[in-house]
Amino acid sequence: MRVILLGPPGAGKGTQAQFICEKFAIPQISTGDMLRAAVKAGSELGLQVKEIMATGGLVSDEIIIGLVKERITQADCQNGFLFDGFPRTIPQAEAMLEAGVDIDKVLEIQVADEDIVTRMSGRRTHEASGRTYHVVFNPPKQEGVDDETGEALIQREDDREETVRNRLKVYHEQTKPLVAFYSDLSGDKAPQYASINGVGTVEEITGRVLEALA
Ligand code: AP5
Ligand code: ZN
Repeated sequence: MRVILLGPPGAGKGTQAQFICEKFAIPQISTGDMLRAAVKAGSELGLQVKEIMATGGLVSDEIIIGLVKERITQADCQNGFLFDGFPRTIPQAEAMLEAGVDIDKVLEIQVADEDIVTRMSGRRTHEASGRTYHVVFNPPKQEGVDDETGEALIQREDDREETVRNRLKVYHEQTKPLVAFYSDLSGDKAPQYASINGVGTVEEITGRVLEALA
């Protein structure tokens, strides 16, 4: 199964991706996690994208498409995958179509902009795995520490309010049009589209997501 999780920054894509990937035994392909790993490693790619990510802009389509095309040829992608945070522009979606990568389901997680800002300020991330928590809504078992590894949690650099507002603006301008893009596809290229209310407890939303995938 090939799934796209669409939704604004902080909608809970990463949070829900964990459950979906475990249940369907498919890898989570998060372009954001891949880019953050490159920044942390200080690679050439990391140096190229660091500034753009810190301000909440989008990394170039060329870089992203190259990264994803390479990733999906790996052995663990044979039974499908979940795209988290990709595609984010029409050219990225078109590149997948042109490469013959048909998508089965597009799930859009909807959360209003005002709720997003609150979520982001409380987010804590396990840097190595990309696992996310929230100090109030989804706390780790022990404060400040990842449940699985016991390692310290960090706050993402792009979670400052001003940057979050810019990321939301970019989302509405460049990514939201993908809903119409996928709805307009017809025939066997057309994925099933489902819109999911992203407000509720993490468990409630997992229930809605799994229902949409059933
Ligand atoms: P990326 O990492 O993809 O960030 P994003 O899309 O902005 O999404 P987030 O990771 O911020 O949010 P999420 O939806 O995963 O939410 P989460 O589950 O963590 O991209 C980062 C940057 O990389 C971009 O700005 C861009 O520069 C670049 N980039 C990446 N991909 C790109 C691409 N394809 N093209 C170009 N550039 C690209 O949840 C958020 C918080 O809410 C957490 O604290 C969580 O615990 C909490 N939470 C989750 N569910 C709930 C709930 N139900 N109720 C209350 N709180 C909840
Ligand atoms: Zn994420």
